[in-house]
Amino acid sequence: MPQYQASYVLATYRKMTSFMTSHSNLAVLLRHSRELITSLQTPSGAYPASPDFSAYQGFCWFRDGSFIADGVSTVGEIDSASRFYDWCARVIDNNKGQIERIVAAAAAGEPVPDSQMLPTRFTFDGLPGDDEWWDFQLDGYGTWLWAVVAHADRHGLDLGRWADAIVLTVDYLVSSWRRPCFDWWEEHCEAVHISTLGCIQAGLQAAERCGVIGGARAEAVSLAVAQIADLIATQGTDGAHLIKWIGNPALDGSLSSLLAPLGVIAADSPLGQGTIAAISADLVVGGGVYRFRADTFFGGGRWPLLTCFLGLAKLAAGNRAEALACLEWAASTATESGDLPEQVDGGELLAPEFKQEWIDKWGDVATPLLWSHGMLLRLAADLGICPTAHTCSQASTPAPTQEAAS
Ligand code: BGC
Repeated sequence: MPQYQASYVLATYRKMTSFMTSHSNLAVLLRHSRELITSLQTPSGAYPASPDFSAYQGFCWFRDGSFIADGVSTVGEIDSASRFYDWCARVIDNNKGQIERIVAAAAAGEPVPDSQMLPTRFTFDGLPGDDEWWDFQLDGYGTWLWAVVAHADRHGLDLGRWADAIVLTVDYLVSSWRRPCFDWWEEHCEAVHISTLGCIQAGLQAAERCGVIGGARAEAVSLAVAQIADLIATQGTDGAHLIKWIGNPALDGSLSSLLAPLGVIAADSPLGQGTIAAISADLVVGGGVYRFRADTFFGGGRWPLLTCFLGLAKLAAGNRAEALACLEWAASTATESGDLPEQVDGGELLAPEFKQEWIDKWGDVATPLLWSHGMLLRLAADLGICPTAHTCSQASTPAPTQEAAS
C-alpha cells in the first residue's frame, strides 16, 4: 500500500475541512469509526451489524463482519480483526458436521435444500438464532476467506489458527458455489448473483495461494476459480459492464467490490472501467450510491458503504480525485455524534412512498451501521489518509490549520 507524505495527508485534511462541519471532520470521524467498531465488538469477537436497530440486534453477519474486520485491519487494529476471524472459525468448526453433510450430498448429486445450508448471520455466541431470515447467502463465506488471508498477508500472521476453518469453508464453497441464493441485500434467492460469485472467487483464490490447502483439494479450488471467472466473463456482463445477476442486465452498487477491494476484475480493464462508468451514470446522485434502481427498502436511499466501494474501485482504476470525492460524500452522512447510517434520504429517495412502512416495521434507518464505518476506514486507508495505526493516530490529530480553524 502506498505511503503518502504528511503534506499530502494535510492537503487532504484541508480539503475535507473545507466541506465538513467542525463536529465531524475527517480525522475525528476516522478515530470515532475505529473506536466504535472496537468498543462494540463482543467478547466472543463478533461485530454487531448495528447495536440498536431492531431487526439486526444481537446478530453478526459474515458479510458485514468480514468487511468491518478488513477495515480495522487496514488501520492497524490487528487484534480486533483476528478476534473476529477467530469467531468465524469457531462458527465454521462448530458446523463441521453440517458442512460435511452438505458436501457429501452435493457430491452424490442430491444437494440439500436451501434451509439446510449455512445461515448468513449468527448470534454473538455463534448460534443460528430463532428469527426467520433470508438466510441462505454464500457471499459472506467467500468474503471471510478473502479477508482473513488479506489480514494475515498484511500483518505477517500465521494462518494456522484459522486453517481448519479455511479448509471447511473451501469445501463448502467448492461444493455449492453454483447454487442460486439470496444476494448481498438478502433478496432474489432464485438467482445467481454476480457479486456473490465475485466474493466466492476472491475467497477461493485467496485460499488457493495461502498455503493451507493442497493436493486434490487445491486442484478442485483451481477448477472452481477458473469456472467462476469464466461464468462471470461470459454471463455476468452485458458486454460493457458487470450485471446484477445471470439473466438480469440491471446494475447493482455491490458490483464495485469485484474491482476493489476483492480484485477479481481488473479496475483498469475495459470491463472494470465500464462497470465504474455504468454505476456512476445509473446509481449515483449527488455523490452517493444507490443499491439498485428498483430499491424500495426505507424508500431506497443512497448508501455510504457502497459509495466507499465505488471509491475503492475508482482508486484502483487510478482516479484518486473521484475516490476522494466518494470518501467526502460518505463522511458527510455522519450524524452529529459521528455515526454513519446504513443509508440516507437527503430528499433523493428512489421510492419515497415505501419509507414509512419500513419505519413502522423496524424503526429508523440503522445508525450506526458498523459496515459503513469499516468501509470508510478502508477507503481512507487506501487513499493514504490513515494507512497504519501509527499514521492514523497522527492523521487523527492534525495541527489545526487556518482553514480548519475558521
Ligand atoms: C442488508 C445486508 C446487511 C444487513 C446487516 C441488510 O439490510 O441488506 O446487506 O448484511 O442488513 O447490516
